[in-house]
Amino acid sequence: ALRVSSSVSIPLRYICLGVLVIQTSTNILTLRYSRTRRTPGEPVYLASTAVLCTEILKLLLSYAALLQTSNYDVFKVNKGIHSQLTENWKDGIKLAVPALMYVVQNNLLFLALSKLDAATYQVTYQLKILTTALFSVTMLGRRLNPLKWASLLILMVGVGIVQMPQGSAPVEKEGVSTSGKFVGIVAVLMACVSSGFSGVYFEKIIKGTPISMWMRNLQLAFFSIIIAIIGIIYNDLSTIMDSGFFQGYHTVTWVVICSQGVGGLIIGAVVKYADNILKGFATSISIVVSSLLSYYILDDFTPSLFFVIGSTFVLVSTYLYSLPA
Ligand code: C5P
Repeated sequence: ALRVSSSVSIPLRYICLGVLVIQTSTNILTLRYSRTRRTPGEPVYLASTAVLCTEILKLLLSYAALLQTSNYDVFKVNKGIHSQLTENWKDGIKLAVPALMYVVQNNLLFLALSKLDAATYQVTYQLKILTTALFSVTMLGRRLNPLKWASLLILMVGVGIVQMPQGSAPVEKEGVSTSGKFVGIVAVLMACVSSGFSGVYFEKIIKGTPISMWMRNLQLAFFSIIIAIIGIIYNDLSTIMDSGFFQGYHTVTWVVICSQGVGGLIIGAVVKYADNILKGFATSISIVVSSLLSYYILDDFTPSLFFVIGSTFVLVSTYLYSLPA
């Protein structure tokens, strides 16, 4: 656990927070970069194949972690996995629900970052704090104090302000058109619902049963792989037949896949050892970090006054929400 004793709990929390901030910021920026910068005429890689590669990576990493925690007893690990798939299949199948939602959510993420700049995407995605709260109340029976409800209200106002158009005429930048922006926002809103539901569902499973986190991650990745393959067959089979599974892949695509895979497992650990609040905090801080990087490095984002005011609302609300009762 993170809180070993009061003296070491602070550094560990900060390390956890720091790792999440760096991971979230680099992940969003490399993903945005990978979707928008490419040689003219060349196809952009298929998001569905990248999602599948990410899940395969998570499966391998979870398996490696299981091996490590059992002192490399391959037989014992395989036996554990086998019994989860056979005798305990009724328990394991529960993971198919968040697996389906996360596969859809991760595909939506690629769509959203093809249409929105990294900063707008991140501020809007903070609405997942709201959906997480609503699902915690309805599914886990948690109660929120008035301050938490007030911060959720401030959060929604802040996200609303960020969406205000800049100036009287819509500003059309390359890769950020008005209609594209609408599609992007809808994708983020759907991802928020999925994120809130799956986060709470996963927390309920991980904290309610004695099965190890790595076994749960392995099960989650297993079902995700099956669902991702079905999705690819259904949506992208003819494109893959024409131009291949790895069409449009570059080094940066692999960086995105690795970052998504490792990031997903970090999130799993944060949900287990800490809570969703710490997770919300990390994404809030990374809004500032990635806005600055988006401005200085990607050069695809100029903060408007609305953006600055709205983001301030979002950051303040995250802080208020995290205050102890
Ligand atoms: O934004 P949000 O916190 O909902 O992000 C969840 C991300 O973490 C998804 O990409 C999901 O695939 C990943 N995840 C994971 N393993 C878990 C929990 C989440 O890979 N145990």
